Amino acid sequence: MNESLRQINKPAGGGACCSGKVLNPSLTINIIVLVSGNGTNLAALIRAEQDGRFRRGKDLSGRIAAVISDRSGAYALTRAEAAGIPSFTETPALALPKAERRRELSGRILRIACEHNADLIILAGFLSILEGDIIEAYGGRIINIHPSLLPKFGGPGMYGERVHRAVIEAGEKESGCTVHIVDAGTDTGPVLLRRRVPVIAGDNPAALAERIHREEHRAITDAAVMMIERLAKRGGES
Ligand code: GRF
Repeated sequence: MNESLRQINKPAGGGACCSGKVLNPSLTINIIVLVSGNGTNLAALIRAEQDGRFRRGKDLSGRIAAVISDRSGAYALTRAEAAGIPSFTETPALALPKAERRRELSGRILRIACEHNADLIILAGFLSILEGDIIEAYGGRIINIHPSLLPKFGGPGMYGERVHRAVIEAGEKESGCTVHIVDAGTDTGPVLLRRRVPVIAGDNPAALAERIHREEHRAITDAAVMMIERLAKRGGES
């Protein structure tokens, strides 16, 4: 590991905590996980860290530094607390118009990410859309899991049961999940990995969702490991 990994670019002009380059004082990739609900994907990530899967070689490791929920009372927060991970609730300001609401919430998340020296942001069942400075500040370092084989059945309004219902109604023979890099669009960034499951005759959305969910837990941890290694390499090359 070298000094450059510790100097991954932080956002320019993203606020006091984020201006210029910030030293990450450890040889650790700090991960922030964003959640909205039950948090089984978060649980898979916590388990992976506890099992040593985020430890790569002698010098490099990933660690979940904080969890942020955009829903108060989300069970994911209880999981974070049980694991001793700092957790935050940052709900959208509903009085604001949509675009401003997204930017304002994203700004608060960016601030927490900076305060925790985050290197990687994982959207693990996070329902709000990130917009504004955070996308640029963390370009290539935000990943999202979506419960379909993107680009199919993604985009605005495609979440939860709606996705699985649409897959069944379209007569698809398979579905699955996708982990992708987040860009300025919705579910549009470069794909990191996909995992496939069959759609079985007589499936209902709940049964299909459950089959996919099991694969998501493997996909999200595999993707986290990929990103930890990728960021370490990127640090070494810059
Ligand atoms: C998952 O299906 C994920 O793909 C979607 O939201 C769900 C979250 O599940 N974006 P959980 O909260 O991790 O259990």
